[in-house]
Order: sequence, then C-alpha cells, then structure tokens
Amino acid sequence: MTFDSSDLPAIDLRSDTVTLPTEAMYERMRSAPLGDDALDGDPTARELEGRTAELLGKAAGLFLPSCTMANLVATLVHAGRAEQVIVQADSHLYNAERGAAVLTGAFFLPIGGPDGTMEMAALHDALDARGLRLRTAMLALETSHNSAGGAVPPLVHMAEVHALAAERGAALHIDGARLFNAATFLDVEADRIAAHCDSVAICLSKGLSAPLGAVLAGSLSFIEQARAVRRMLGGQQRQAGIVAAAGLVALDMRGRLIEDHVRTARLADLLHAVEPSLVPRFPETNILLVDVAASGHSAAEWCETLATCGVLVRPWRRYTLRCVLHRHIDDDAIERAGRAFATAAGQLFRARAVRDRS
Ligand SMILES: Cc1ncc(COP(=O)(O)O)c(C=O)c1O
Repeated sequence: MTFDSSDLPAIDLRSDTVTLPTEAMYERMRSAPLGDDALDGDPTARELEGRTAELLGKAAGLFLPSCTMANLVATLVHAGRAEQVIVQADSHLYNAERGAAVLTGAFFLPIGGPDGTMEMAALHDALDARGLRLRTAMLALETSHNSAGGAVPPLVHMAEVHALAAERGAALHIDGARLFNAATFLDVEADRIAAHCDSVAICLSKGLSAPLGAVLAGSLSFIEQARAVRRMLGGQQRQAGIVAAAGLVALDMRGRLIEDHVRTARLADLLHAVEPSLVPRFPETNILLVDVAASGHSAAEWCETLATCGVLVRPWRRYTLRCVLHRHIDDDAIERAGRAFATAAGQLFRARAVRDRS
C-alpha cells in the first residue's frame, strides 16, 4: 500500500450530512428561549421559520425534522389521490424518498433532462396528454441537483417551468436541500431562486452543518396547511428550539459554502490529471461525480480500494462514484484525496490491463 498518511483519520467524502455542529451552535442551543411548539409556539423555532422565510422571499416558514419530511408535507398539501405530480426524473424526491408518491396516491410522472432540468417539449407533451387526464397538481424541481453532480438548473429554466405550471393551475415545489449552494454558484441571493416556485424546502444539516432540520417556506395559507399535515405525520415537536437554535447559526454559515465549491473544483482538477475520463463534467458546487467505467471496475470496487487508501466515497451508480465536499475537508485533505485516487487508479487500471491481456 502506497498511501502516505495511513495514521491520519479517513477523509470522509460520502456526504455533506456527516458535518458536526459548531461550537457556536452548542452555545446558541444552551441559551435559546424555548417553549412548547404545539401549544404557544417555540420562540426559537418561530425565529428560524421567520428568518428562513425572509431569506427565501416567502411569507412564512415551517421547521421540520428532515428535508424528506419537508418535501413530503409540501406534496401532501399540493397534490391528492388520482392527481398528477410531475417530477424531475433524477430527483431525490422521486428516486430516494418515494414516500410522497406512496402517501399521496398521486401519479408521479418523471421528466428527464440534462443537468437536473426538465426537457421542455416532454413537459409540454405531458401536460397536453390526451386520454387518461389526471389534473396536474404539482411540479417539482431540485437545486442544486444531487444526482446531476450538484448541477444548478439555470434560473431561466426555473422561470419557464414555473410560468407553465402557473398557466396550468399547478404548484411548483423546489427541493432546495442545497439551495444555498445553488445561490452561491449563481452568485445571487436565495430569494432570486425561490422566486420561481410556490413552495421551497431547504435543509440545514448538509453543508450548513446543523445536526438536523429543514425549513419549508411558502405563502401563509400554504404554511397553515403544511403545519396541519406536519402534525398528522408526527413531525410536530415540543421544545423544537433546541435544534432550531443550531439552524439559526447554520443560516449564517451559508457564506462558507464557496470554500467547499473551490475545493470540489480542486479535487476535479486532481482527478482529471490522474485520468481525464474520471471527470466527465466539471463540478458547479460541492458534489463531484466520478466516472470509473474506463477502469472496468465497478464503483463498489473503487470504494473498497479507496477506503484502503484512506478515502471514503459512495457508489452512486454502477460505474459512478459520488464525492461530496463539506466543512470537515480542508485543503490538505483534498491533496491527500487526490493522491489516494492516483494510487487507487494505478491499482485498478493496472489490474484491468493485466486482465485484458490474460
Ligand atoms: C436533494 C435532496 N433532497 C432531500 C434530501 C433529504 O434530506 P434529509 O436527509 O434531511 O431528509 C436530500 C438528502 O441527501 C437531498 O440530497
């Protein structure tokens, strides 16, 4: 094994959800005013809801334990049984959550498109479809787009989809689990993105480092309904301010996301230098998809080899790895990760060459 720093802790690139709370979060938790959120309202949870809504340019917000529940609540408010929900085909909501389809009883129609977008002609066709006519109640986009390697759908695309949804009487929901990463990439305030939707969910426990929590934002009447649905799902919590306090600090940390983006770009450069085919698309935010098909080894085999070199990543598709940068990965870790990839690539590409000749 040629790994040069085997005594150092593993470099964990599996997800930005591994981030731990900051000292400032613990301090804010200790001093946060608390109350029963189901009775009179928890003041700190209310503060977080108000502050997030303001940042997103929406009238109201609702604190939830997870972004999955935020997306679920939004879908349950917007859509019902035997209605249609049109989702971006590679989205987290459609592929990884699934509960929204199961629990609404709505028909979910996926529309694909490059880099997390929806192909507009296919979207028009879906809305104009004859025959079994289900009312389209909701459309959903995701930004930044996890499975598209952190790609950020252009604002003009979101505006176009939003206008079409409005024309057809449907709501547009944005899964903005990493919306602040998208805003950082676009160099705009978050409300410029959220302007193109009726409801939006943001997650506090990814690059922003809160231990848990998400906020759903929208109009007053939407949030009023969402509050009732949250209660039905068991998502109403009592002294919720204890974690909302960390969320308030997390919101103020959004300026640091650029550091993750810069380091992701550096990692892409290092991997490209190892083998150009590993980096099919230059990253826009904090997610890098790595294409290992040319090595003839699966993503799972790469994960195993990289782990022995001190780097943890996740297999995303059969021949694709996902690396996610976050607050615990510094410049030194990126250089070490680059060397680990070079070592792993040396082993795996060599093994393929030997196999091809035997
Ligand atoms: C795009 C996207 N949406 C939603 C979620 C769900 O977030 P949570 O883990 O808070 O439920 C994730 C989690 O990784 C995600 O990547």
